[in-house]
Amino acid sequence: MDRQNNIQRIGILGAGKVGIVFAQLALKAGYEVAIAGSGDISKIALSVKVLAPNAKVYRPEEIAAHSDAVILALPLGKYTTIPKHTLANKLVIDAMNYWWETDGKRSDLSASDVSTSEIVQSFLVNSRVVKAFNHMGYHALHDESAEPNAKQRKAIALAGDNEHDINKVSNIINNFGFDAVYVGPLAAGAILQPGNVLFGANFTAQKLRATAAQLHELLIFSTSLLSLTKPNPQLDALQAHEWFKCDNNTTLTLMGNAPHEIKPSTIENELNTFKEFVQLESLGAQYTRLIRYGSRAIGVIWIETYDTAELNGPSIHIMIGDKKFRNKGVGQWALERMLTFAKNSLHYTTMHSRHLSSNAAAAQLLQGVDFKKSGKPYLDTNGLTWQNVHKINL
Ligand SMILES: NC(=O)c1ccc[n+]([C@@H]2O[C@H](COP(=O)([O-])OP(=O)(O)OC[C@H]3O[C@@H](n4cnc5c(N)ncnc54)[C@H](OP(=O)(O)O)[C@@H]3O)[C@@H](O)[C@H]2O)c1
Repeated sequence: MDRQNNIQRIGILGAGKVGIVFAQLALKAGYEVAIAGSGDISKIALSVKVLAPNAKVYRPEEIAAHSDAVILALPLGKYTTIPKHTLANKLVIDAMNYWWETDGKRSDLSASDVSTSEIVQSFLVNSRVVKAFNHMGYHALHDESAEPNAKQRKAIALAGDNEHDINKVSNIINNFGFDAVYVGPLAAGAILQPGNVLFGANFTAQKLRATAAQLHELLIFSTSLLSLTKPNPQLDALQAHEWFKCDNNTTLTLMGNAPHEIKPSTIENELNTFKEFVQLESLGAQYTRLIRYGSRAIGVIWIETYDTAELNGPSIHIMIGDKKFRNKGVGQWALERMLTFAKNSLHYTTMHSRHLSSNAAAAQLLQGVDFKKSGKPYLDTNGLTWQNVHKINL
């Protein structure tokens, strides 16, 4: 049993082929098990009694109250039927895949480079979702479970954003009879889905790790996963609040904000900021784009088109809010696109850039889209040096 991580009770939503195997593995590992089908207890009572005799059967909305962690083992196409309020603050393990034969043709779930667990996380907005157990078939899950030191023990991959939860799920995987292999943030879990190489993987940890590392490299540098989209205040405010929650204002300070300019991050404040962004765009005063990796917002980039107290001209601002995505070329990718947009769409004569640590990189980018260095450094009200003032050739 998983006393170390305080997980003693496993809940399972879905009592079909794989849900029953999860119940069997959990019982064998010494967990208490609570399981539900889509509704009536009587529908699954007999099969659970026969196949996983010590598991307790409940209705879906009762599962959370009897579990420390809940595994999702229902058809992905039905994820919006999950009783999400009961799962608030819960660790949720998403084992679901998009399977068109079951789920029907669903363009919202079928992009091969978007982690469907991120879609599930957006729905279960108050739960902590980790993706695991989705890539191995239920027969293999049943047959390959083995003791920790068994030769050629098979591995299960997991993807998630929170270190504590990743450790907890790794322990569950290990107790279920598999080595755990972490493959990256929830967004990176796309490599485990149908249509991608690791789907169906029945590998040892060594082979799984090596294959994932190769794919991950590709993924991190694959621009096909990156996009710039207009803000969605409701969703993006939550995401921005996540970025700042444990940050002690380091990000905003590094961007050159004075302490008195920094408002405490609350969902309400973030929501107001995003609403302001949207409103300013309708006035042509600001152009804001969220930088997304798959469906996850990882940063924000915006052009202010008006003079400000600090700058007599347009300026571009960028923040990679999700620390895991810093120093991976994402900022450069976004800047290139926004500067090209500025050059093609807006009639600016100057663009100011300032960065505390990467002026050289900013200069290179600006020159790459035909900005020319034109003047002396500026001073902003915080006493920082404004550098790289460029003149655009229109
Ligand atoms: N089969 C595998 O080898 C395998 C392996 C890894 C992952 N997965 C994934 O795991 C999920 C389940 O696959 P499966 O093959 O086990 O499917 P399955 O045999 O069709 O079972 C699905 C189960 O989910 C239940 N369900 C539907 N809506 C529910 C809800 N809102 N709350 C609780 N339970 C609900 C169904 O109940 P009713 O019968 O009452 O509708 C049924 O018990 C899928 O997303 C699949 O992609 C499958």
